Amino acid sequence: MNAEATLSFDIREHGAPVPASERTERIADPGFGKVFTDHMAVIRYTEGTGWHDARIQAREPLTMDPAAAVLHYAQEIFEGMKAYRLGDGGTALFRPDQNARRFRQSAARMAMPELPESLFLESVERLVEIDREWIPHMDGGALYLRPFMFASETFLGVRPAKEYLYMVIASSVGAYFKGGAKAISIWVSDDYTRAAPGGTGAAKCGGNYAASLVAQAEAIERGCDQVVFLDAAEHKWVEELGGMNLFFVFEDGSVVTPPLKGTILPGITRDSILTLLRDDGITVREEGYGIDQWRADADSGKLVESFACGTAAVVTPVGTVKSTAGDFQIGSGGTGQITQRMRDRLVAIQRGEAPDPHDWVKRLF
Ligand code: PLP
Ligand code: COI
Repeated sequence: MNAEATLSFDIREHGAPVPASERTERIADPGFGKVFTDHMAVIRYTEGTGWHDARIQAREPLTMDPAAAVLHYAQEIFEGMKAYRLGDGGTALFRPDQNARRFRQSAARMAMPELPESLFLESVERLVEIDREWIPHMDGGALYLRPFMFASETFLGVRPAKEYLYMVIASSVGAYFKGGAKAISIWVSDDYTRAAPGGTGAAKCGGNYAASLVAQAEAIERGCDQVVFLDAAEHKWVEELGGMNLFFVFEDGSVVTPPLKGTILPGITRDSILTLLRDDGITVREEGYGIDQWRADADSGKLVESFACGTAAVVTPVGTVKSTAGDFQIGSGGTGQITQRMRDRLVAIQRGEAPDPHDWVKRLF
């Protein structure tokens, strides 16, 4: 039997958790990524020993050697998923097996050890269980879970590290964008790209986001919510936003989304929406869509909706696209029909308010 199969979590409850009244206040309108729970999950990896020291403990700052490899060479990956309050008072995760799998795939791309999916799932489930009271009650509220792993070895040579720390932290969240589900504006970055063929675009590694920030800062400067990246080779094909996948809806009712060719993140929301659209008999094509075509189709009325999707953003309409070549509006600039339908369908499944024909919802308790 390998070591992982026998690894059990040591549960050490926080000695002085946030008092209930203060917690209630903090989670009433938490925004995104600012309110954190009492506990965290930790598992260590050491070459030769494998995964060890799994535990749930009080959330606390880390002590790291300044020569920890991650601080220099950015060997780091993460996941993003949510625990939801169900209509009947229960708690559930949405397709957590897909996050576990993508975490392994990201690890492989970054030359990191692959955490067994059973350990990933157990770490998340145990953290949700101990911190379940932190799930907000507000409409659209959830417990955002952030599993991550980094090279903790103290070593400055450039090679895959021999020691890693895997952790899960949890954050009470509401909507990702300040306007909630209102249409966002996006800025087309024509000088910066996010990912190139052969690069790390399909992995959820911190480095991808670091490289996106200068373009995101430009987007903010132009008054936009998000940046949209074009492909690195031709600067033509629309790929994805800094933290979300994109869909395009046409007047004939068909839908297009960029294909998975290794330069965009294979979003779990993207995959779910593809499935829901096909369930509805809608024609969906995973194919390239050029920025000039997008502009022309929006102007001619052939393109009627565009929306972004992701765990944090759920389904968010894109109202305006801005670029150095000029701005254009999508449809009426608000929320289109298919966008609204997909958001409602997805959220209803996630909250246990609609049938779950694909077995996506994993009820915890
Ligand atoms: N693309 C990027 C770059 C992201 O950061 C995310 C968010 O996780 C997504 C797409 C959407 O992925 P998912 O639906 O799995 O959250
Ligand atoms: C997520 O949706 O989980 C992400 O990681 C994207 C980020 C914009 C928060």
